[in-house]
Amino acid sequence: MTRPLQNRRVLLVIGGGIAAYKALDLIRRLRERGAQVRPLLTKGAQEFVTPLAAAALAGERAHTDLFDRAEEADIGHIKLARDADAIVVAPATASLMARMATGESSDLAATVLLATTLPILIAPAMNVRMWQHPATQRNLATLRADGVRVVGPNEGAMAEAEFGPGRLAEPAEIADAVEAMLAEARPASGFGFLAGRGATADAPAGPLAGRRILVTSGPTHEPIDPVRYLANRSSGRQGHAIAAAAAAAGAIVTLVSGPVAIPDPPGVQVVAVETAREMLAAVEAALPADLAIFAAAVGDWRPAATRESKIKKDGAAPAPLALVENPDILATIAGRSAGRPRLVVGFAAETDAVLDNARAKIARKGCDLIVANDVSPAGGVMGGTANTVHLVGRDGHVETWPTLDKDEVGRRLIRHFAGLLGA
Ligand code: C5P
Repeated sequence: MTRPLQNRRVLLVIGGGIAAYKALDLIRRLRERGAQVRPLLTKGAQEFVTPLAAAALAGERAHTDLFDRAEEADIGHIKLARDADAIVVAPATASLMARMATGESSDLAATVLLATTLPILIAPAMNVRMWQHPATQRNLATLRADGVRVVGPNEGAMAEAEFGPGRLAEPAEIADAVEAMLAEARPASGFGFLAGRGATADAPAGPLAGRRILVTSGPTHEPIDPVRYLANRSSGRQGHAIAAAAAAAGAIVTLVSGPVAIPDPPGVQVVAVETAREMLAAVEAALPADLAIFAAAVGDWRPAATRESKIKKDGAAPAPLALVENPDILATIAGRSAGRPRLVVGFAAETDAVLDNARAKIARKGCDLIVANDVSPAGGVMGGTANTVHLVGRDGHVETWPTLDKDEVGRRLIRHFAGLLGA
């Protein structure tokens, strides 16, 4: 049986942080899936794990510093930057992310990352406050815009008794993200590695070459107080699959996504948002577009007020949670008189009377097409990997597709929309 990463070569850059020990487990997991792993440790990483341990697990020599002359003669940094199918940075520290975002090349890791055109996946890990700092978030946005893919960080208890996002994604999740990245970045998909890194690289050919496509995906989080929010079960899988398929078809894709735990699709500019109002602002900023697909599960309501401090139990009856309606992003964009995308597609996730609701929705929202699906608990669509969709047109015509993997639904939808745009 061939393993998912059989013969794929991964350069693993290990950054300096307490989570570096997990990079050793990652080496093991990548190798179990068939990959060849070449470790590269920053100086900081060597405070936490030894090159010897990394080399022993990888079955390859571990690389350490630019100014190791013997190493340079043996395998230069440019060769390291080329001689793999992908680069994974785990843990990606705040400092390593900053160096990547500014193009600094002060050590071997940063130099290789600057010199490469390979697809890059980073798995950030740091203190929660460092992660949330505007500087880190700015660097993250820059890296995403450059086509760097990101997995994690996860939320949880951290060192120094803190809680929040900042934990390194689990080695199995990182290995999954490497698989997804390499599956999408295969030249057979019509992309060279460079094109796979960013939507603005060499214009690829394809049925949507040169078209601008906007996709929304994922849930929204509507804060109640600093630690609580209203959300829904959307995983973002369908929206992300559509964005990936659009990029593979040659489009210039902006994906505006709520908080999700899945990797960024390759070749797509990702704008990460939390709330419905942020999503609307990001969508408006991303226009103009030829085609807009609103696959996000936007929260219909948000708390009327967000408390600045955590609401405490005080023994009395809990205060009722007052809600106000969120802006309808789809209806806002579909109703534009100027700058309306030529094709506006909405989604209708329903638990009852799926088609009747979809027909009513198309009129109410002013979109051109609705992709309707049944999300009753028995269907397992919300958060699952398969989807059964019905395409409902303005004239009420319905086309029902068989149950398919969400990636395949994404590809078929993109083919269908390309046909409509071409017509
Ligand atoms: O009204 P409902 O939430 O069922 O409509 C679903 C469609 O509308 C989806 O395409 C969703 O992305 C979009 N929507 C939106 N903004 C909202 C609510 C829904 O864009 N506030």
